[in-house]
Amino acid sequence: MSCLLVDPDQSGQLDWALNLLRRNEPVGLPTETVYGLAARVASSSALARVFSLKARPHFDPLIMHVSSVEQARAWTLEMSDLQASLLDQFWPGPLTLLLKRNVQRIPDLCTAGSDWVAVRSPAHPIFRKILLDLGEPLAAPSANRFGRVSPTRAVDVVSELGPFGLEAVVDGGACAWGVESTIIAVEESLQCVRILRPGALALEKLQDFLGSSWKFEKAWERQHEASSVLMPGTLESHYAPRTPLLFLDSEEVLATILSEGTTQKILLSPYGEEHMDPRWLPLFRKKWQQVFILSREGRDTEAAAGLFRTLRECDLASCEQIVALKMPEAGLGCAVNDRLRRAGR
Ligand code: TXA
Ligand code: MG
Repeated sequence: MSCLLVDPDQSGQLDWALNLLRRNEPVGLPTETVYGLAARVASSSALARVFSLKARPHFDPLIMHVSSVEQARAWTLEMSDLQASLLDQFWPGPLTLLLKRNVQRIPDLCTAGSDWVAVRSPAHPIFRKILLDLGEPLAAPSANRFGRVSPTRAVDVVSELGPFGLEAVVDGGACAWGVESTIIAVEESLQCVRILRPGALALEKLQDFLGSSWKFEKAWERQHEASSVLMPGTLESHYAPRTPLLFLDSEEVLATILSEGTTQKILLSPYGEEHMDPRWLPLFRKKWQQVFILSREGRDTEAAAGLFRTLRECDLASCEQIVALKMPEAGLGCAVNDRLRRAGR
């Protein structure tokens, strides 16, 4: 059976996709971050299909996508005023918050047995329409095989999951942000926000909203330590292209690369020559098989938007290695670096 690309503007096609979801079949859906593989949270069998299509281990929990703060409240327990104010501020959008799970409604499979459920309300109009028509939450991990590069275009989902039996993907165009949502847990008594995964909502925006009395713990940087909450993407390799990738984040690594002779390698740079730190400039004088630049001016949003698509293009160029340069750690630079670092493991 082949995977159908659903045109949301063709009459009846979106309803057909909606009926697949109602029958507990997963469907590829666009969000403003990356494409998701959506299925009814309420149905353990629908969730099981998601895990098997992605070849995802059952210990890795799924994000619950809701239409509103009210729906989030109905499927979780004990949302505080502060949590509600964060959601009012940043939803719909790329913020995922850990809330206490309502075990009466959310199956174990969704949270890998945890008492905490990750919740977000996506901004993409197609995903929102489907959530509203359905009237219940959808689980939606990124629509890629486990550990691989997240898809940011409908055709990427078709080629990624079509061969494994996915029936349909709704085409909502290219994703605006291009990296996944920011995942946080709030510890109010400590006035602390733990960032479990840096993502499309920049840390600075959370800091501006909460004010200077709050601490921000970059939990994703110390994920090897034991933790009560499972850290996203703790597994060694994640967001990985098929081609080996070297994350270039120190002058030591730079020296090694510069000392090598001519090779069939690709340089992946977040910015163009005119906008980069002079220390890295010798890199551009090296002979590469190909050079990909994510944003000539080094703009973080542009670099993030094109990141996963470019990693897929690098794979198509079939080279020996991708050498990816680090971005400044500001705005979405944190998320871009995190994805590249993990792609290199
Ligand atoms: O932007 C996004 O968040 C996209 C789109 C499709 O909405 N979704 C997404 O889902 O990135 P996924 O499954 O690819 O990544 C979710 C991450 C996983 O690494 C998982 O371990 C973590 O969130 N996660 C989910 N539920 C969790 C929980 N209860 N506690 C801790 N981490 C959780
Ligand atoms: Mg993912």
